[in-house]
Amino acid sequence: MNNSNGRIRAAITAVGHYFPEKILSNADFEKMVDTTDEWIRTRTGIRERRILEHGATSDLGAKATEMLLKNRGMDAEEIEVIIVATVTPDMMFPPTACIIQEKIGARRAWGFDLSAACSGFVFALAVGRQLIETGSHKNVLVVGADKMSSITDYTDRNNCILFGDAGAAVLLEPTGEPDVGLIDQVLYCDGSGGKYLYMAGGGSLHPPTHETVDKKMHYIFQDGKSVFKVAVIGMADVSAEIMQRNNLTGNDVDYLVPHQANLRIIDACRERMGIDPSKVMINIDKYGNTTAATIPLCLSEWWHCGKLKRGHTLVLSSFGAGYTWGAILLKWAFDNPNKS
Ligand code: COA
Repeated sequence: MNNSNGRIRAAITAVGHYFPEKILSNADFEKMVDTTDEWIRTRTGIRERRILEHGATSDLGAKATEMLLKNRGMDAEEIEVIIVATVTPDMMFPPTACIIQEKIGARRAWGFDLSAACSGFVFALAVGRQLIETGSHKNVLVVGADKMSSITDYTDRNNCILFGDAGAAVLLEPTGEPDVGLIDQVLYCDGSGGKYLYMAGGGSLHPPTHETVDKKMHYIFQDGKSVFKVAVIGMADVSAEIMQRNNLTGNDVDYLVPHQANLRIIDACRERMGIDPSKVMINIDKYGNTTAATIPLCLSEWWHCGKLKRGHTLVLSSFGAGYTWGAILLKWAFDNPNKS
C-alpha cells in the first residue's frame, strides 16, 4: 500500500450524506423575523435550509454513514475508527462517535469527537489521514454532522437565517495507487478570534443555570461583520498557500470545495485562487451553513451525480469559530459506477 515515495497514502474511498426533510425557506423567515428573501439571498446566497425536527446529531451522522456503507458494500463491523466533527454533540458526553457506533453497529471501532467548529471536518480528515499513513489502521470513518437548529436563536435575525442541519461522512483507506489520495494540508487556529463567534453557556465556564438560559447563552453568538472580514481573507489565504506549496495554478484545480458559510466568502476565495466559477462546489443555497457537514455534503452530492471523477484535483477549504481554518489538497480516488 505504499505510494511512489514509499509512504502509505490515505484516500477517500466512500461517501454518504443525509439531510432532513423539513425545509425552512427564506419566505418562512419573513414570517418569523424582520427580514426579506432578497436580503438573505444577496447577503449570504442562502435560499433554504433543512431542519431536523426529531432526533439528534448522531441521527444525522448515522444516516449518512448508512448511505456510505451501502455505497461501499461494506459491513459496519469492518469500521476501525470513527471521528465525528461536530459542535452540536448529542450530549457533552458520551462522545457522539460512540452513539453513532452503537446506532450503526460498528462493534469493533473506537472513536472520538473533534470540536473545531466549521473547520471540524477538515481537521478531522487531517487526523484520520495520520491514522492511515502511520499504518496503524486500515480505515477511518470521518463524519461531519451538526444540528445547528438546536443552538440557533430564531428571534436573532443576524444569525438564525444562516444555519441548517445535515450530516455527511467519508471513509479513509490506504491506497497503493500513487496518483490519488490526500496530498497536503495547511491548518491554523487563532484563539484571539474566540470572542467573535461562540456559544458561552453549558460548558465548565458557564454551566447551565436559569440565568444562562434567561441570557440566551445556549445559542450561537456571532459578530457577523468581524467574522466575515477575517474569514474572507483567511479562507482565501490558506487556499492560495496550499496551491503555491504544490506549484498549482487555477487551471490545475478541478474543484474548490469550500465551507459554505456565505457565498461572498466563497467567491472571494475562488477569485484569489484564480479558478473558474464552474469549478466551485456550492450548495449553500439549499442547506445554509451546516458547520462540520458542509464540505463532506458537497463531496457526497457531487460524487452521487457523477460530477466528481477519479483523478480530479480538489482543494477543500474552511474557516470557522476559534478561529480555525485550513485547506487540504487531494486527488479524488473513485468514480460513481452508476454514473460513468
Ligand atoms: N435581514 C435583514 N437585515 C439584516 C439581517 C436580516 N436577516 N441581519 C442583519 N441585518 C441588518 C443589520 O442589522 C444591519 O443593519 P444596520 O446597518 O441598520 O445595522 C444590516 O443588515 C447590514 O448588516 P451587516 O452586518 O453589514 O451585513 P453583512 O453584509 O456583514 O452580512 C452576515 C451579515 C452575517 C451575513 C455576514 O456578516 C456573514 O456572513 N458573516 C460571517 C459568517 C461566517 O463566515 N461565519 C464563519 C463560519 S461559521
